[in-house]
Order: sequence, then C-alpha cells, then structure tokens
Amino acid sequence: MGKIPRLDGERKLTGFWVIGNWKMHGRLQVCKDLAYQMLAMTSQCPDPLHVAVAPALVHLDVVGSILKNSAILLAAQQASAHVDGAFTGQCSAAMLADLGVQLVLVGHSECRADLEQKDDVLRAQMQRIAEQGMSVVLCLGEDLAAHEAGQTVSVIDRQLDILRDWVDWSRLLVAYEPVWSIGTGKVANPEHIAAIHGHIHQRLQDLGDAGQVVPVLYGGSVKPALMPQLLALSSVNGVLVGGASLDADQFGQICKAVVDWPHVERA
Ligand code: PGA
Repeated sequence: MGKIPRLDGERKLTGFWVIGNWKMHGRLQVCKDLAYQMLAMTSQCPDPLHVAVAPALVHLDVVGSILKNSAILLAAQQASAHVDGAFTGQCSAAMLADLGVQLVLVGHSECRADLEQKDDVLRAQMQRIAEQGMSVVLCLGEDLAAHEAGQTVSVIDRQLDILRDWVDWSRLLVAYEPVWSIGTGKVANPEHIAAIHGHIHQRLQDLGDAGQVVPVLYGGSVKPALMPQLLALSSVNGVLVGGASLDADQFGQICKAVVDWPHVERA
C-alpha cells in the first residue's frame, strides 16, 4: 500500500496517522452520511496526514466505494485467523482485500475481551492479513487493575511477544490503547504516554532492526482538544479514534490539528 511512513534519511518516522474506528455504531444511512462528510473534510490528506476509517464489516463495501478515489484508506475491525472454509460468521482476510481494505485491526481490547481472542489466534490473523498485502494495526494496552498495580510495561511486553517471529515490518502499525481510557473520557497523562511509547519503540527495535519503521499510535478517548499534547510527543506517530470518529466535525478537527502542526517529524 505504499502509504505507511518510512524512515527518512535521518532515521525518523515521518507522517502522522489518524484512524477512525466506528466499532458497531451506526445504521447504513448514518455510515454513508459520515463517509461523505469525511470525504468532504479530509479527502486531500496533505502530508504528513494519513487517514483511515474502519466501519463495521457489513458497511465496508458501501463505505469503500464512497471513499474509493480519495486519500482516505479503508480499514477493517478484524479478520479471521483462518484462510477460508467452514467457519460460520467469520470473514477472511482475502474477502476484506477484495473490498479494497488496506489496514486491519488486530487485538483490539474489545475483541480480546468479548471474543476471547488469545495470542495464537491473533498471530494467525496477522499472518492472514499480511499474506493478502494488507497492513496490521496491532492494538495493545493494560487494563485498570494492571495500570494501578504499576504493571503496564510488563503487560505491554507480554503483548508484544506476539511479534517475536514477525518479519513483515513494513506492514505493521502498533496502537497503544490503555483499556481504562477507551470510551471513558479518562486520558493517560503525557508523561505516561511518552514513557510507554518510548518503551514500545525500543522493544520493536530490539525485535528487529526494521522494527524502528513501525508507527506507534495512541488511542483512548482521543478528542480534538487532546491533539496538541499528543502532537508534541515525538514518539506518538498517530491516533486511533473511537467515539470522536463518529462525529465528522470532531474527526475533521483532529485531522486539521495534524496538518496545522508545525513539527511533523516523528522520532
Ligand atoms: P475511544 O475508542 O476513542 O472511544 O476511547 C478508542 C478505541 O477503542 O480504539
């Protein structure tokens, strides 16, 4: 897909991602309207902005056709761990690729919890996605109990273990989303975000030299007002936005904050 920011000559990641996760919100007409509104606001996506939206599976086709000739990428919220076959209710990575999907979320905390997805399933999903030439957005983050017990780093390290045999570094993004922050309005403080993002970048680099090209996004109650704080952190390479992505105006403001931000180089 050629849009993932690469290292420039000074070994810095360039570009900033804004990915909207619509989850299981919205009926067909609502999602179509939202897609047209986003198109009107962010269709140009000037550098350094990289925008994607992840509608529900059943809306991918129609939203994908609305966004088709725009710079907004189509993302899916998950893919099956299986190639194809008798797996009722599932959708394969190949089926998503047929619809023009370019990015797929893996391991979102709501999937880990609700669908009880474990590492072997997540690893297989990642494999299937990469085989189809799409990119993985690997979501990770600690829950409230781990956060309060000061165990964030050990939880993150354990979740990153899934990448031990990963080779397709140019097809990977990581999203750090503290579970206690998702949909709650509670936001991690900038020191915490900087420390954890720095740690994730280091671990990715330790896992493989090419790990340093992997963008690390932040997620959890991201709203337009938070953008200056996040953009000021050089280790934050983008945002994964839930609630605010359902409001085209807020999503547009988040994108505009990136375009207007003077310091676009990300470490
Ligand atoms: P939120 O969701 O922005 O509503 O907290 C983020 C996410 O789950 O990706």
